[in-house]
This record gives sequence, structure tokens and C-alpha cells, in this order.
Amino acid sequence: MIDVPILNFSSPEEIISNAEEVIETFKSFGVVAIRGANLTVEQQVFVTKALGDLTGWVPNNSSNFEQQYVENHKRLSNKEDIAGDKVALGWHMEHVEYDHISPIIGGSWNMVKFTADPETGRTYFVNTAKLYDTLPDSDKEFLETAYVLWSEPGEDREFVTKAVRQHWLTGEPTIRLHIAEPFTEPKNLARIYDREPTEEERSRFVILRSKIISRIHNDENIRIVHRWNQGDLLIPDLFKGAHAATGGFTSDQREFIGYWLYPEDPDTHVEYEGLAKEVSNRVARTEELNVPK
Ligand SMILES: [Fe+2]
Repeated sequence: MIDVPILNFSSPEEIISNAEEVIETFKSFGVVAIRGANLTVEQQVFVTKALGDLTGWVPNNSSNFEQQYVENHKRLSNKEDIAGDKVALGWHMEHVEYDHISPIIGGSWNMVKFTADPETGRTYFVNTAKLYDTLPDSDKEFLETAYVLWSEPGEDREFVTKAVRQHWLTGEPTIRLHIAEPFTEPKNLARIYDREPTEEERSRFVILRSKIISRIHNDENIRIVHRWNQGDLLIPDLFKGAHAATGGFTSDQREFIGYWLYPEDPDTHVEYEGLAKEVSNRVARTEELNVPK
């Protein structure tokens, strides 16, 4: 396992004056922790926006958009009974279906309370750009032109997204696949090589996706781990960051204030990289796709 790189900065001003190092670490590693930050929520917004001015993400100082949430995993039952080195919040990628509008590309996670054992409630990451890089060329080529149809059982919504996309900041080809329930339709390859897939290609996709999921779950050589301290500010890249959390803590021992990062203000509904338009022109109308439901 690889540890999340930790930078020790103890004030918003110190973080901002070292912004280049923060951003370079975020870009190359896919996640960066700032230890001893101990930010108020106001300071967290200040730092997140200042970094947004430099990277282009939203929140930044050209936009009023802020989307705050509080995460203490209250709804995650049995987490206290699961060991600190076992996954309690399962591996997932954050709302890949948003790719057809504006994806979540990161988080600003301010751990305002952490009184649990640091070996518990860890966060695990796998960098899916690095993972893509390790695939055989034949699998890369197969995924490169693949469009995937996601449908949520019980929900009257369907989305078509690209299996691999260029990273919004670094340009790396990055795997963008749902890896968790409820997005487990067995045959969800919608389009490949600019045509309808064959049955064989659909099966190949299912197997390849399973292999990718298995690597994410089990390959400790690519697993990145963060052991939390209270006061940490963690900035994960969630465009290329599959992630999970381990158990062993209670909701009153671990709480962070989060802000989602987007490549642009989602309220403007500007189409990201033209992808939504591309999809709607070519493949998005799922009734035209003749994809098995
Ligand atoms: Fe998440």
C-alpha cells in the first residue's frame, strides 16, 4: 500500500503560498493531504477557491457555486463492527453518470473531528489513470472507444458515458466506470468503434469491467491509503480516484466537511468538453441504441 503524500501547513496563508506544491502533488498522485491545517469552514472555502483559481476547478473566485456536505457515515450501518483494515464503505467512483453534464472531479475534505484510532476509518484510493496505464494494449484500445449505458434498477433514468476519458487537468486517459451497486447491468456496453457492439464485445466488456473491479478491490500494490488525523485537509482527485473507507469507528468519532469540485459551475449546465453534445448527437438517445434492457 502507498501512503497519501502529506504536506505540513498550519494556516490558510501557508497553504496558499505553497499552492504550487499542493497542486503538483494533487496532479501527480491523485490525492494530497495537508496535515495540521485545522481550517474553519470559512478558511476551507477560502483555500478551496484559491486553489480553484489556479487549477480551474469550481469552487473558485469567479463563481458563486459551493456545494457543501457533512460526512460522518451515519447511514453506514455496522461500520463499528468492521475492522479498521476492512472496507466498510464499499469501493466506488463518484457519480460517473454526471459525466454527461458535469462530473465531480474532486473533493475538499476537512476532517473537523477525528477521535477514532488512526488505524480505523481510513480512506483508500486507486488511481484509475495509473490503472488504465497498466492494462494490456488490446484492452486499452477496446476501452478507448467504448460508450457505456448505465441504468439504475428501479429508477427511470439512463445515461451514456465514455469508459475512458481524458483527465480534465492532466490529459491522462482515465477509466471512468461505475464499479459498485446499483450500476451492475450485466450487458451495458452501448457503443464501440463507432458502431453497435457485437454480443462477443458486450461479453468482453463485462469480463474486462470485472477484472478492473477486482484489481481495485484486491491489488494492494496500487492501493493508496490515508490514515486520518483531526485537522487534515484532504484533496482527492475523484475523476481518477476510485475510493472506499474502512470500518472500526462510530459516527461521533469521524466527521468531515466536504465540498465537491467540478470542472465548471454545474449550475450553468455548460457541456463539459462537448461530451454531452457528442453523446446526444451520436448515441445518447438510448431508445435508438437497441441496447438490451
Ligand atoms: Fe465517495
